[in-house]
Amino acid sequence: MTIARTILVKLAAMLAIAGLVSLAALAQEPPAKPDSYQLFDPIASVLQNPRCLNCHQAAAPRQKDTMIPHIQSVIRGADGNGARTLQCAACHQEMNSADGKVPGAKGWHLAPVPMVWEGLTRAQICRQMQDPSRNGNRKTAEEVIEHMKVDPLVLWAWNPGAGRSTPSITHEQFFERLEIWAKSGMPCPDDGPKAEASK
Ligand code: HEC
Ligand code: HEC
Repeated sequence: MTIARTILVKLAAMLAIAGLVSLAALAQEPPAKPDSYQLFDPIASVLQNPRCLNCHQAAAPRQKDTMIPHIQSVIRGADGNGARTLQCAACHQEMNSADGKVPGAKGWHLAPVPMVWEGLTRAQICRQMQDPSRNGNRKTAEEVIEHMKVDPLVLWAWNPGAGRSTPSITHEQFFERLEIWAKSGMPCPDDGPKAEASK
C-alpha cells in the first residue's frame, strides 16, 4: 500500500466514525413536532380519565365512569366548594370514607373555572395547562408538572375507593412521562385531524 493510499483509508475510516457520531447525536436530539402525540398521549390518557375530569368541570362536579351529574344537584358555588348550604366538605372528608363510597382527599373541591377541561380536546387542555393566566400562574415546566406529582387530589385518582376505575398507567409511569414531556419543552398535539380523532 502506498502512503497516499494508507492516508486515504484512514481518512475514510475517520469520516465513517464522524458520520456515526453525528447520527448518534441526531438520535439524541429532543423529539421534534411529530412526536408530540407520542409524548402527550399517555399524559392525556390520565388527564381525560373520569377521575380527573369529574372535578375539572364548569358548573358542577360529575361522578362515576359515565360522568353523570353529581347526586343531590351539587353545584360549583362561588369558590368551587359548593353552595353555601351544601358544601363539598359536608360529605367529602380528607380521605375516602371507610367503605370507600364517599371519596375524599385534602382540599376536596372543584377545579377553578380557568382550569376547567370540560369540552376541550387534548390539544386544548395541553395548551391551557401551560398558560400562566389559566393554570394558577405556573410558569416553568417544572411548576406545571409539580402539581401532578404531589397534589393529594391528583394522587387520589389512583386510590379512588369502592372499586372505582383508575387511570390506565400507574402514577409512577405518569410521573416519568411528565418528566420526559417537560424536558422536551411540553409540546402539544396539533389541533389537526389527528387531534380530532384522538380526542
Ligand atoms: C351530600 C353529600 C355530598 C356533597 C355535598 C358533595 N358530594 Fe361529591 N360525592 C358524594 C358521594 C356519596 C359520592 C359518590 C357517588 C358514587 O360514586 O356513587 C360523590 C362523588 C363525587 C365525585 C365523583 C368521583 C368519581 O370520580 O367518581 C366528585 C368529583 C365529587 N363528588 C365532587 C364533589 C364536589 C366538588 C363537591 C362540592 C362542590 C361535592 N362533591 C359535594 C357526596 C357528596
Ligand atoms: C376533587 C377534585 C379534583 C380532582 C379529582 C382532580 N383535580 Fe386537578 N385540580 C383541582 C383543583 C381544586 C385545582 C386547583 C388547585 C391549585 O391550583 O392548586 C386543580 C388543579 C389542577 C391542575 C393545575 C392547573 C391546570 O389546569 O393546569 C392540574 C394540572 C390538575 N389539576 C390535574 C389533575 C389530574 C391529572 C387529576 C387526576 C389524576 C386531577 N387534577 C384530579 C381539583 C381536582
